[in-house]
Amino acid sequence: MTVAIEMGHTTAGAPGALDLEELLATRLLVQGNSGSGKSHLLRRLLEQSAPWVQQTIIDPEGDFVSLGERFGHLVIDAEEHTERGLQSAGERARIHRVSTVLNLEGLDAENQMRRAAAFLGGLFEVARDHWYPMLVVVDEAQLFAPAVAGEVSDEARKLSLGAMTNLMCRGRKRGLAGIIATQRLAKLAKNVAAEASNFLMGRTFLDIDMARAADLLGMERRQAEAFRDLERGQFMALGPALSRRPLGLRIGPTDTSPRNGTPRLMPLPEAALEDARAIILAAPPPEIVRPQRRSSPDLLDQLMAAKSAALEIRPEPVEPPISAEDLAERRERVDRVLRAVLAQPDAGFRVIGVLYQEFVVRCRIEGLASVVPDLPEFRRMLTRARAGLGSDMAGDDAWQDVSVRASLLPEDMQGVFMMIARAAKEGWPCPSDAAIARAYGSHSLRRARRLLTYIEEQGLIVCQLDGTGRRTVTLVELAWATAPGDPNAAEAEQGRLAV
Ligand SMILES: Nc1ncnc2c1ncn2[C@@H]1O[C@H](COP(=O)(O)OP(=O)(O)O)[C@@H](O)[C@H]1O
Ligand SMILES: [Mg+2]
Repeated sequence: MTVAIEMGHTTAGAPGALDLEELLATRLLVQGNSGSGKSHLLRRLLEQSAPWVQQTIIDPEGDFVSLGERFGHLVIDAEEHTERGLQSAGERARIHRVSTVLNLEGLDAENQMRRAAAFLGGLFEVARDHWYPMLVVVDEAQLFAPAVAGEVSDEARKLSLGAMTNLMCRGRKRGLAGIIATQRLAKLAKNVAAEASNFLMGRTFLDIDMARAADLLGMERRQAEAFRDLERGQFMALGPALSRRPLGLRIGPTDTSPRNGTPRLMPLPEAALEDARAIILAAPPPEIVRPQRRSSPDLLDQLMAAKSAALEIRPEPVEPPISAEDLAERRERVDRVLRAVLAQPDAGFRVIGVLYQEFVVRCRIEGLASVVPDLPEFRRMLTRARAGLGSDMAGDDAWQDVSVRASLLPEDMQGVFMMIARAAKEGWPCPSDAAIARAYGSHSLRRARRLLTYIEEQGLIVCQLDGTGRRTVTLVELAWATAPGDPNAAEAEQGRLAV
């Protein structure tokens, strides 16, 4: 028996069908920018297949909980369970063949990864007797199988990536059919994407994603340009469960709807705020600091506690609201502190944690304790500063674009990319290997060259050498190019590029 799920209509008007049995064997990857209609597509697929096959949805936003009311999926709020609990829940869902929605909303990235991994682990580890076929849908899969390290711990990333790899690479024998959706193909781990044989490609803007999609589909990159013009709800389908040739598909309606729809435009309140500046930019309410309670303090501990508590609970002076000028002035001073920290000879070679500590201390000395940026913000400032940018550049549109591209690279490479981008924007000579190494926090020229090659392979830059061995770097798409520069120049000659 073959079961054909109707997904919608082809552009020619014929029914667009998905072969469910084939899908179980060959998995599916859906990609399209935010708003292209991926979640809607997944919902259509889930609704149409619900009578035929057990399913589970890894749901980072709580979009799919409404399936429970109509189709009887058990909604599991991950927030309320431990990893161990979720692992057994995964096993039991298979043993009792119950469809589930794992709602991960409200958790931070680290816990979303850990808990999804635990639940997927349960599905995967269940004893052989229970290997019935099952659809495992993962929306926003790049959250669980990111291509590069992010802010989460290595352990969480390893757990989650491992679970996703198991699902996509080794799940088939166990009856698990992975169906994953992502808004950014370039942000999804390659090995996870590569295991799907069926594709539904929706509207895609960034070249780097289009190039990835073309590679996966075995298309010319030029053909993939067509993904730019797709409308919401329109996808190109390809694969054994869909079509042997690329086929335009318009996804049909769904019976249920997401709980959180697209934000609707609302008229603004009619009454104008008396003084918007004073209200919006008023000082934040003071944080409440509680003295720490200890279980069995000895006398010395008690004395210490009393002393530090006395220091801590001193009421914060109530500051008048900070004016915009004051704020700008403080930012400028924080920038100056950062430049001073980076001006030290070996600053380029220190790990970020050490730099941050020193930065915080210096800010305090300058009386800027109340406006010290947190570590993620410090990282961003550092990236900008190493590229030779002040915080003023943050508002420049073209630079926003550069930052988006930079974010495709591992974090430690972003500063180098920004430095090169700056040189290209200004038409300065291409930074030397020594300058690149320094911005990367390394002494190794060979590593600097490997780094350039890597960034070039990611499709962000093109490097060219002229007849005299001087190097030019051009930014892909923006077409900014550096002036030719000597790769072997000593760094001092390019002093204005170095921080
Ligand atoms: N084929 C479609 N038919 C009707 N509405 C759609 C269709 N695809 C998407 N939508 C609507 O468009 C909006 C965005 O779709 P969504 O699936 O949430 O996008 P994505 O998950 O790719 O960000 C939603 O309000 C959804 O209901
Ligand atoms: Mg979505």
